[in-house]
This record gives sequence, C-alpha cells and structure tokens, in this order.
Amino acid sequence: MQSFDLVLFGGTGDLAMRKLLPALFRRFLAGQIAPGSRILGTARGDLSREAYIAQVEQSVAKYCEGQFDAAQWSAFAQLLHYGSADAQAPDSFGAIAAFLAGREAITRLFFLSTAPALFAGLCAQIGRLGLVTPETRVVLEKPLGQDLASANTINECVGSVFAEHQIYRIDHYLGKEAVQNLIALRFGNTLFEPLWRRGSIRHVQITVAETLGVATRGPFYDQTGALRDMVQNHLLQLLCIIAMEPPASSDADAMRDEKLKVLRALRPLAGSDVTTKTVRGQYRAGAANGQPVPGYHEEAGVPADSSTETYVALKAEIDTWRWAGVPFYLRTGKRLQEQSSEIVITFEDVPHSIFGGGSAASPNRLRICLQPTDSITLSILAKKPGDGLKLQPVDLSLDLAASFKTQQLDAYERLLMDVVKGNLTLFMRRDELDAAWRWIDPIREGWLQQDVRPKGYTAGSWGPAAASALIGRDGFAWNGEL
Ligand code: BG6
Repeated sequence: MQSFDLVLFGGTGDLAMRKLLPALFRRFLAGQIAPGSRILGTARGDLSREAYIAQVEQSVAKYCEGQFDAAQWSAFAQLLHYGSADAQAPDSFGAIAAFLAGREAITRLFFLSTAPALFAGLCAQIGRLGLVTPETRVVLEKPLGQDLASANTINECVGSVFAEHQIYRIDHYLGKEAVQNLIALRFGNTLFEPLWRRGSIRHVQITVAETLGVATRGPFYDQTGALRDMVQNHLLQLLCIIAMEPPASSDADAMRDEKLKVLRALRPLAGSDVTTKTVRGQYRAGAANGQPVPGYHEEAGVPADSSTETYVALKAEIDTWRWAGVPFYLRTGKRLQEQSSEIVITFEDVPHSIFGGGSAASPNRLRICLQPTDSITLSILAKKPGDGLKLQPVDLSLDLAASFKTQQLDAYERLLMDVVKGNLTLFMRRDELDAAWRWIDPIREGWLQQDVRPKGYTAGSWGPAAASALIGRDGFAWNGEL
C-alpha cells in the first residue's frame, strides 16, 4: 500500500459527493488507504475545511448507508482538506501548490471531475506550477469531448503536461465487477474460447437500460444525447471485451492493443446504413416505478423542440475473421421499463435436430447480467421429466454475489485504487478513444444530413418499435421480447 495525495477538482460536485468520496471512505473502512494519505477537495467556492468535511460527511453517510461508522468517519475526516481554486484564475492555485509542497516523493493524483471545458485550464496551471512529479497521475472523467476534434483538443492539452502513461481516462463500466467476470470467463476457462466466434455464435446483444430520466442534467444531456453519453464509451467498451482477441497478458497495453483492434475493425455506419442500422428515440410522458413522469421535452433545461436522442439501438458489425457475419446489436436508453444491463450471446442452432415436434426450439444462450444483479446464466436444453424425449430450456446459473458472499467493490472503488497502484488496464488509452469517436462521428453526421429525428417512445416502455424492427429484420428479437 502506498500513501497518496489526491487533489480532487470538482470536489463539491455531484460525482465527487455521490461516488468518489463514498468510494474512498469504503476503501478506508477496508484498510486500503495507506496512513499518511491526504485528499484535497477543490472547487471555486470559499469553504472552510470544517464546512467541507460536514458536507462530505452528509453525503458519505447517505451513500454508505449501513457501513457508516462515526469513529471511522472521524478518522477518515482527518484525511480531508479543502482549498478553493478557479481554473480561470491562475493566482488561485497557490493553495494547491502549498498543499503539495515538500511531498514530491509521494504518489500524486489529480482527479478532474469537472466540466471538460475546464480540463485545459486546469492542466495548464498544474504544468505552470511544476506540480507534475514522476509519480503523478491525472484522472479524466468522461465526456472526453463531443467528437473526435474536440477530444483531440482535450488530449493535446492534457498531453502537453502529462505523459500518456500518467493519464487515466475513466470509463466506469470497465470497473464493474461483472465486466471483470466477463474477462475471467473468457480468458480463465478453456470451455468458451473454441466457441467464441462465427460458426458457433449467431448474434450478440448488449443492452444498458435505465429507468431514470435525465434528472437534473437536462442542459448537459441535451448537448450530448445517448449516442455520445453511453454508446461511444460504455457500450463500445463492453463490445470490445466480448470481441477482443485473447491478449498475451493482462498487462495494460496488451489488453488495450486488442480492444483497439476491435474498434478499428468496426464497419463504418454511414450513408444509408445510418437509417437502416440505427434507431434514435426520445421519451414521452409515461410512468416509471408506477409513478407518472414527464416526457423529455418537459424536463428542466431541455428545449421544448429538442431533437436529442435519449435512446439508441444499432447494429454493429466487426470485419475480422472471428466475427464476420455475426451482428452485434446494441441498445441503451433512459426511462425504459427496467433498470438492467446485460450481454446476451446467442449460439447457433444444432445443425440437425433428432428431436421431433413439441421440443422447444431454443438456441443455447449465455447471459451476462451486469445490473441489477451480477450473474452469468447459460441456457441449455435438457430433457423434460416424464415419458418421451421432449426438450426444454433450463438455466445453469451462477449468482456471483451469492457464491462469493463478500462485499463487492463499487466500480469507482476499484478504479481509484488502480490509479493509486498505477494500473492502467481498466483505463482508455488515447488511441482507443480516438477510434471510438471515429466510428461514432459519422453516425451523428448521417443523422444530421439525413434529418433522422428521434422516434417518440412512452416512458416505461422498451423504446421505439423501430428498434424491434431493426433486429426483427434479421430474424431475431431482443432478449425479453422473445
Ligand atoms: C454515465 C452517463 O456515464 O453512466 C449517465 O453519463 C448514465 O447518463 C450512467 O446514467 C449509467 O451508469 P450506471 O453505472 O448507473 O449504469
């Protein structure tokens, strides 16, 4: 365990309060924060250290319910400090420099949990004050740009102060336990590898469905939309983990090289493909958890005529020997019927069935559930009890939470500790990010050029009917719609 100094820009913001500081507290409870570590929250506002600690306490008590302990809290609070800093006011960085002075030998982390528009200014000040030591790392939260050009601008600015091996671009989906399990499943077992390809796999579905709407993020979300908020990062990263070739080791670059090859092999979706292989949706008023909820246009900060999508479904194809002809269907949306994220891999039918009529014609299916539970289910055909040889699907299920009975790490707990340890495996390298934008940008351009507007769907439904038609045209259905 090594001590660290963490400077948290955006230290009073939503992500810091809801995720980062509670994650640090939980790691503290687990004895994973080395003595001598310090956390400096920074934001523009003038706050005393006591007031900041009181603010953090409230949110840690809320988000660590059941684990909050007053004695442990007061020990954790000793690590917390506050200093106001304004990315646009260079003079205001003196407090940060003073905080770090004389601690050059200690691992130093800058976490930029602010609007990306501030990244360049923050990095410039960090560079100007000479705060980057060999053991310094910078963590960047998404969104990293709005398109390839703006991502390049951010990466250039950050890259002029930090070396690539010091830059940790977060995609919190890579920190989820289920994603780690998927890596373990694929590369820790001999069983799946021979089948993990065209010829055995018929199609793959990736769903990230949310019941939440845009909540208080209307203005941000309206500039972003589901394609850039979710597909460009989380869904493409999941696709990479499924489709990548086995890396030579779990070393960060070995893994990232293989993911990059997948992103580069994605067949571009442009021109008429944009209308036939993608669906945009936007929620209308409906219900969530039994309560009426407004439509997207009625959300605070969203223009009444907005044409931003809150739902995307698309068909992706990977032009490699392994995956040629195997469609990957991706969908994500807000205000859908269920909060659920899953990957479903459907295998080919048997080439010839010896079982007569009455047997369920059901292909083997592997379902990796990321949320709300962390489970892996393999659906196979077995004999139905009783006379005759009739088949029916049964599930071989692995409930990982129940099997291991240990407290699972939240994605941010794992990722923050990886930054402390200097492990880049679960973070995106610049070329990966570029390749993802290169694939996403033409889709947006196609939507604009061809005036593809989002189709309305009722809040609480499974999204626009066009998404069922998209997959239905290939003779398949979304899992759950079977
Ligand atoms: C974020 C998106 O990256 O991921 C949000 O900006 C989304 O819009 C969130 O709600 C989903 O994350 P999770 O972990 O709740 O599935």
